[in-house]
Amino acid sequence: MVNKTSVIILAGGFGTRMKSSTPKVMHKICGKEMLFCIIDEVQNISDDIHIVLFNEADLIKDSINKVYQNNTFNFHLQDYKNYPGTAGALMQGGDSDSAKNPFEFKYDKTLILSGDMPLVRAEKLEEFTKLDCDIVLGILELDDASGYGRVVIKNDKVIKIIEEKDASDEIKKINFANAGIYCIKKNILRNFLKEIDNKNNQNEFYLTDIILYSDDLRAVIAKEDDFMGVNSKLDLSKAESIMLKRLRDKAMKNGVTIRIPDSVYIEFGVEFEGECEVESGVVLKGKSKIISSKILSNSVIESSLIKDSTIGPFGRIRPKSNIINSHIGNFVEVKASNLNEVKAGHLSYLGDSKIGSGTNIGAGVITCNYDGKEKHKTNIENNVFVGSGTQLIAPINIESNVLIAAGSTVTKNAKNGDLVIARAKQENRSNFFYKFFGKK
Ligand code: UD1
Ligand code: CA
Repeated sequence: MVNKTSVIILAGGFGTRMKSSTPKVMHKICGKEMLFCIIDEVQNISDDIHIVLFNEADLIKDSINKVYQNNTFNFHLQDYKNYPGTAGALMQGGDSDSAKNPFEFKYDKTLILSGDMPLVRAEKLEEFTKLDCDIVLGILELDDASGYGRVVIKNDKVIKIIEEKDASDEIKKINFANAGIYCIKKNILRNFLKEIDNKNNQNEFYLTDIILYSDDLRAVIAKEDDFMGVNSKLDLSKAESIMLKRLRDKAMKNGVTIRIPDSVYIEFGVEFEGECEVESGVVLKGKSKIISSKILSNSVIESSLIKDSTIGPFGRIRPKSNIINSHIGNFVEVKASNLNEVKAGHLSYLGDSKIGSGTNIGAGVITCNYDGKEKHKTNIENNVFVGSGTQLIAPINIESNVLIAAGSTVTKNAKNGDLVIARAKQENRSNFFYKFFGKK
């Protein structure tokens, strides 16, 4: 449902606590940038989405435009020099009298979110947008609220929000934290921005003081699992664990068997179809589709299609592979290859190849796809038996019904029906051992 609420995501900060050259909101959880996790959710509830940028603004904006083509987002560049802080991020900035005015929002209410709360979900956001009052404030009740602004409540009334950096030891003991999510009526935001200053330990314009601007305030007790703020890489790992659980739970509800779920990593782009099984330690990344297949323990699959197949244990399927009706065994690496009804049981590298039905790839087979300058293709047709330890020097074409002798270094194309044998001829010299070492 699209509400009559504007949304603004604050993503202009420096995120120094991440200690990273990547802007904070572009750090990923389960393969998706935190900011994009939020954008995907707010798109379900509003058609007036605003994003405030400052640090690495161009880089972030370009990434957004690449992923969300033809978007109608309103981008704002924060006047950080004059108006730093979460309230500064909501001001138009510049030299004019209107510097402290809020941006133009389409609707009377605006939902304000931080770009570092990747766990938000549309249905939880609606608990804020559906309430009709001047200020809706999200509060977390935590055992340990350190890192968050503390919410001072007296006689069931929110009195003040005090940032950790401005807090006395007494205030730090409070376990009500400001979640950093607010739904605010236009006139309240306007009045507030006009009056606030930056007299605090960080010399920043704090959005938190907005609660003093109306008595018509409703506090929504929210869960950290939904509104956790990610400031450090430790927080990032905690948020990712929560998101991973959601993705795994969804897969299991849809009929995927997962063994030791906590050990399985799944990214947003992974889709399952049919009855699938995923064993422990498996990593599923990128845009992958797994249809009626078994992924055995400790295998890695990245941006590939796996259909009616078994992979692993310890299989590695790299991007752009299509594996259909096949068996890929332990320590087999496949990259950018199409395999249909193929068996590759052990210890192989199959790169830039196309392999047809009934073909058996022996242990230790290597497609030598790279000549030091360029990548080349290996094409193997149907019913080919590739003996163990074979090296296929690409580009190369092996027609159907070919037998390649083990240990061959194959440099020439093979025709239907050929035996290919390309290895040094064996010579046995009788009694050489005894001549060399003497009688032992
Ligand atoms: C903020 C709140 C705190 C709350 C916590 C919840 C304030 C002053 N503090 O603290 O009470 O408990 O979130 O997670 O609001 N940003 C800008 N421009 C700036 C500064 C920040 O766009 O000048 C953006 C950041 O990119 C970030 C968001 O605002 O996405 C929050 O900033 P952050 O520095 O993470 O605030 P906290 O210290 O976590
Ligand atoms: Ca934060």
